[in-house]
Amino acid sequence: MQQQYVMGIDIGTSGCKTLIIDDQGRVAARAIEEYPLSTPRPGWSEQDPEHWWQAVKSTVRHILKDFEHISDIKGIGLSGQMHGLVPLDKDGKVLRPAILWNDQRTGKQCQAIHDTVGGIDGLLKLTNNRMLPGYTGGKILWVRENEPHLFERFRVILNPKDYIRFRLTGEYATEVSDASGTGLFDVRERDWCYLLLDRLQIPRDWVPHCYESPEVSGQLLPGVASDLGLPAGMAVAGGGGDSVVQTTGTGLVEPGILGTTIGTAGIVAMALDRCYDNPDGKLQVFCNNMPNKWHTMGVTLAAGGSLRWVRDMLGGAENEIAKWTGEDVYELLSKQAARAEPGSEGLFFLPSLSGERCPHPDPHARGGFIGLTLRHTRRHILRSVFEGVIFSLRDVAELIREMGLSIAQIRTSGGGALSDLWRQIHADVFNSEVITVSGSAEGGAYGAALVAGAGVGVWGSVEEATQVVRAETKNEPIKENTEIYDKLFPVYQDLYGALKNSFDRISEIYS
Ligand code: XUL
Repeated sequence: MQQQYVMGIDIGTSGCKTLIIDDQGRVAARAIEEYPLSTPRPGWSEQDPEHWWQAVKSTVRHILKDFEHISDIKGIGLSGQMHGLVPLDKDGKVLRPAILWNDQRTGKQCQAIHDTVGGIDGLLKLTNNRMLPGYTGGKILWVRENEPHLFERFRVILNPKDYIRFRLTGEYATEVSDASGTGLFDVRERDWCYLLLDRLQIPRDWVPHCYESPEVSGQLLPGVASDLGLPAGMAVAGGGGDSVVQTTGTGLVEPGILGTTIGTAGIVAMALDRCYDNPDGKLQVFCNNMPNKWHTMGVTLAAGGSLRWVRDMLGGAENEIAKWTGEDVYELLSKQAARAEPGSEGLFFLPSLSGERCPHPDPHARGGFIGLTLRHTRRHILRSVFEGVIFSLRDVAELIREMGLSIAQIRTSGGGALSDLWRQIHADVFNSEVITVSGSAEGGAYGAALVAGAGVGVWGSVEEATQVVRAETKNEPIKENTEIYDKLFPVYQDLYGALKNSFDRISEIYS
């Protein structure tokens, strides 16, 4: 049978990635283009949606230049940074720069949303999620309070990838996984929470039609198709919010397999076969890309980000060697860290360098090295960073275990998964096999292509699509190391509570 292909487009925070995969899951072509992010004030984070669109056009054109099977591309799947607000006026014009997921301006509005519905418990009854400062709901209220002249022109509210859908197809539409991340979605019913929209006085017709992720949401407009070099009428499927669809892309389709991603942030996720209640709203419980399945995750804010900080602040020697030899600086840091023994002789690193989201939703949380003695060397300091990040992931995973879910295997991805030391610490701290899989380095674009392929008939379902995913590396836990980490982990867990008061006091002084 003729080979079939699917395209995946991911609107990331630092850039757009576009790829084409074949029906065996192999990447046939890929292109990446970066775009800027602006921080007009401390804690603000914005992007111009026109930059996304230009990057989509140039990456698509770039990969099609030498691609010989354009007529065998069956559809397009979209992925993108979640929780962003893209407001449009009655003519589909963008009213202001998009406010992104990592923008911190909406603390007051999130509090007001909780107050409106009877506190966090009241909101959990409606949406099964807290309104976190990064979510869309608080941003809409912020614009109403601070930019009323723009707010009165709002007619449509889109997520980042759904703005690209609008440019590609002319349709205002989203899908359940990204809609979940607005905080305005009833994830149990897989539909907008109209009651919440009413209580917040957000007009019901501002939210777009919501599809299941594999469903076809529109077709390429003729003008856009000819501009991009694709056949007119090509199907554009729902796709998914990046954090959800990238875990789907690693084959996380059943409970029991834990997905972890060590990128700048750390993501700990699992597919759910029903909508579990979200304990105190500490996790995020969203609709999954498979109809009738859900997804839970907890995000820590500085996982790979902690190692990057160490590289920049303490990695002088390794940076120099890397410059002269061309070796990878992270590999050099790993080698040094591996020379300290598991447990770093009681030295702990707390990775909350950007505040924290999970398991402690606390913007005042800070990082730290605890337990230093004269015996500790630079190697211990480095190793404690690798270990502290994995402890923080286990801290999130414990919340998933508390839901009654067990962990039979871990699939890890992101830049951190490239380090054998990190994967081994991961296996030892979790006492579980840790594997990496094909395609996991490709992020959301890969998962979106699989989901779209399921929607346009390349595969029969998302579950079937993920059968193309193959294991690449495997780390088994080492018993002696696991025993050490099992003793140290409860100490790590206690440190946040012991230091919380001090974190608050530091934040008062340096606010
Ligand atoms: C998920 C989250 C981030 C963004 C950016 O809840 O905030 O992963 O989706 O990629």
